[in-house]
Amino acid sequence: MTYSLEKCKVLIVDDEPQMCRGIRKILDNFRVVVEDTASEVFFEADCAVAKDEFFELIERQDYGIILLDYKMPDVSGLELLEHIVSRNKNTLVIMITAYATFETAVQSTKLGAYDFLAKPFNPDELRNSLKKAVTRFMLSRKAQEFEEEKKKIRFQFISVLSHELKAPLNAIEGYLDIMQNRFDSISRDDFNLMLNRSKIRLDGMRKLIFDLLDLTRIESGEKKRNPELLDLSKIAASSIEMFSEDARKRNIKLSLNAEVPGEIIADRAEIEIIFNNLISNAIKYNKDNGFVRLKIAQHRDKIRIIAADSGIGMSFEEKARLFKEFSRIKNEKTAHILGSGLGLFTLNKIVKFYDGDIKVKSLPGKGTVFAITFAEGVLYDN
Ligand SMILES: Nc1ncnc2c1ncn2[C@@H]1O[C@H](COP(=O)(O)OP(=O)(O)OP(=O)(O)O)[C@@H](O)[C@H]1O
Ligand SMILES: [Mg+2]
Repeated sequence: MTYSLEKCKVLIVDDEPQMCRGIRKILDNFRVVVEDTASEVFFEADCAVAKDEFFELIERQDYGIILLDYKMPDVSGLELLEHIVSRNKNTLVIMITAYATFETAVQSTKLGAYDFLAKPFNPDELRNSLKKAVTRFMLSRKAQEFEEEKKKIRFQFISVLSHELKAPLNAIEGYLDIMQNRFDSISRDDFNLMLNRSKIRLDGMRKLIFDLLDLTRIESGEKKRNPELLDLSKIAASSIEMFSEDARKRNIKLSLNAEVPGEIIADRAEIEIIFNNLISNAIKYNKDNGFVRLKIAQHRDKIRIIAADSGIGMSFEEKARLFKEFSRIKNEKTAHILGSGLGLFTLNKIVKFYDGDIKVKSLPGKGTVFAITFAEGVLYDN
């Protein structure tokens, strides 16, 4: 495992300068490995021997850990403790005192101190206390970073989503305006054209909403999974049946070659989403008179689904962002094709849930092959 090197700023608040120096020296050569965050932490310490110095330093920067003397000549340690806690809840305070009584311990803990160290203490006692504190500090820092990242992703997601919903709304509103304002002057054909286009945009919105529901159910973990023994070739066949009309309209030949039945223990609805997305894409991004070939095969001791099409294909760069949410390849060939860009994002989530693997090969103008191999939850058929 590789560890990232992280710094933890420590402030030592003690009116005895030799105490400060002593602690600092111990910290200089001390490192703590925090397994859960895969980090190795080193310490950088500042000293404050008086109240003014303390306030100056604490205003200037955030400390991970503060070693705080309970009794300072010009101020009470508890007063400083209150100040630290109200300022930054993530800072962990270790109280140091020569008068370690039960009452002082209770009082400081109530005010938010993390730990308590009684003077005199030896270097190992100090290291143990710091190790505990820094582990806690790193864990809460990671949790905070994770929360922030989550917020950012959520914000981006909602921004793109509202854009995706606004675009068809604007289009439909535009058609309605024309139909209302120019009711007398537009032809019957134009009228029908605008109605049909509005219906297509509405269909797109409905699909986006259903895709979102699928996705949220999968992501939230709220969706109840019903693992059962499934026959992939049967699900593939019914998915092909579902898209046969779309394919027929463009004279695209759909075929299924089930080399093995492909038995797998999984949730039926999720496997259906996988097939539906693969087939829907293979038809949508195909050429008229093309083909879509679906295969269920055995790959070593695993089951593999292969979807090959004779479609428009994609470049290497386009392929790289295929599984991102709302990712759609925009060019003159795809401009007229509707979609939300959530299909493969959802598919990828499901495949990852089953510890599966997805490989994509594509040649612009020639076609694309998706190969999904399931690692777990699979029963092989010999
Ligand atoms: N078989 C394929 N051949 C060529 N391009 C494809 C293929 N499958 C996907 N793509 C490209 O990847 C993009 C993302 O696919 P994805 O299925 O996630 O979204 P979508 O089809 O646009 O919308 P939807 O959410 O309705 O499925 C598509 O917009 C398309 O540009
Ligand atoms: Mg799709």
